[in-house]
Amino acid sequence: MTDATRSDSRRGGGSEIDPADVDLRVALGDKLALRNPIVTGSGTFASGQEVDRFFDVRRLGAVVVKSVTVEPRRGLPTPRMAETAAGMLNAIGLQNPGIDAWLAHDLPWLNSHRVPTIVSIAGNTTAEYRHLAERLRDAPGVVAIEANISCPNVDDRDIVFACREEATHEAITQVARVSSVPVFAKLTPDVTDISLIAGAAHEAGATGVSVINTLLGMAIDTETRRPKLAAITGGLSGPAIKPIAVRAVHQIHEAHPQLPIIGMGGVRSVEDVVELVLAGASAVAVGTATFTNPLAALEILEGLPSWLAEHGYATLRQLRGAWRR
Ligand SMILES: Cc1cc2nc3c(=O)[nH]c(=O)nc-3n(C[C@H](O)[C@H](O)[C@H](O)COP(=O)(O)O)c2cc1C
Repeated sequence: MTDATRSDSRRGGGSEIDPADVDLRVALGDKLALRNPIVTGSGTFASGQEVDRFFDVRRLGAVVVKSVTVEPRRGLPTPRMAETAAGMLNAIGLQNPGIDAWLAHDLPWLNSHRVPTIVSIAGNTTAEYRHLAERLRDAPGVVAIEANISCPNVDDRDIVFACREEATHEAITQVARVSSVPVFAKLTPDVTDISLIAGAAHEAGATGVSVINTLLGMAIDTETRRPKLAAITGGLSGPAIKPIAVRAVHQIHEAHPQLPIIGMGGVRSVEDVVELVLAGASAVAVGTATFTNPLAALEILEGLPSWLAEHGYATLRQLRGAWRR
């Protein structure tokens, strides 16, 4: 807070910092350093190939890929997306080629583009999480695993892993035990106290947490009286959920100040990134914004140094958790 406060005194008097000198590097624990804090939200960037037509994905801090499961999944029936007032609902159903095909086809593409890759994994049992982490052991170019534990636990009446401390602990223990890279637990905000779940993940060996996943929502077409999603309910994302993301990051950072947090939820602008960092995030993912503007992550990344320089900050790191009471 001291650094941020000191820098603030320069605001208005003209900053002497050149945007070219702003240092965007961030550390997420001892073993993961990113060249900049902007990453992609799992499921909104596939494995990078589609967006590479629009910009060089190497510019990003890392690509977080769509969640991969043990077996291929075809996903849920359509319609799988519905627009809402300030965001969207989706029920894709974790469509993905399965870990074997992903390792054979998607990872080599990411490696050939030399982009640090964070692999999101998803399972229905703790054994599946463990199997996926084993398959990813020593995979080239994989800098971290993001365990998407916002999935139903078939061994516990389909209650989402990240809704229970014990299930979170069990799943993350299995992943961390065999993983050769840092593990991040991706948490759902649909809980009473997200900082308790983050604590359980950390205790089980997670280096950090990624927050927030989508919130469960529903929309009904008033003409047809049918739900707008074939799966009836789905995950709400986009600007509507940003205040919830800021709150969740804040609560986790207050309870676990040393725990690295990848923050996400409705990020569309440089200011949104700064807001999540002020709440306690170290890195920030751009998700739904990419659907309306494939250049969103790049534009935010490019705007960040100027914003920081104009406000008198030489790094983004110094703003972490630096909100004022
Ligand atoms: C279409 C879509 C698919 C998603 N798929 C995944 C996924 O496979 N794994 C995951 O952990 N999160 C997934 N998410 C959640 C996002 O990674 C992110 O946590 C959430 O959307 C909030 O960020 P945003 O508002 O910037 O999109 C998905 C989100 C959307 C919109």
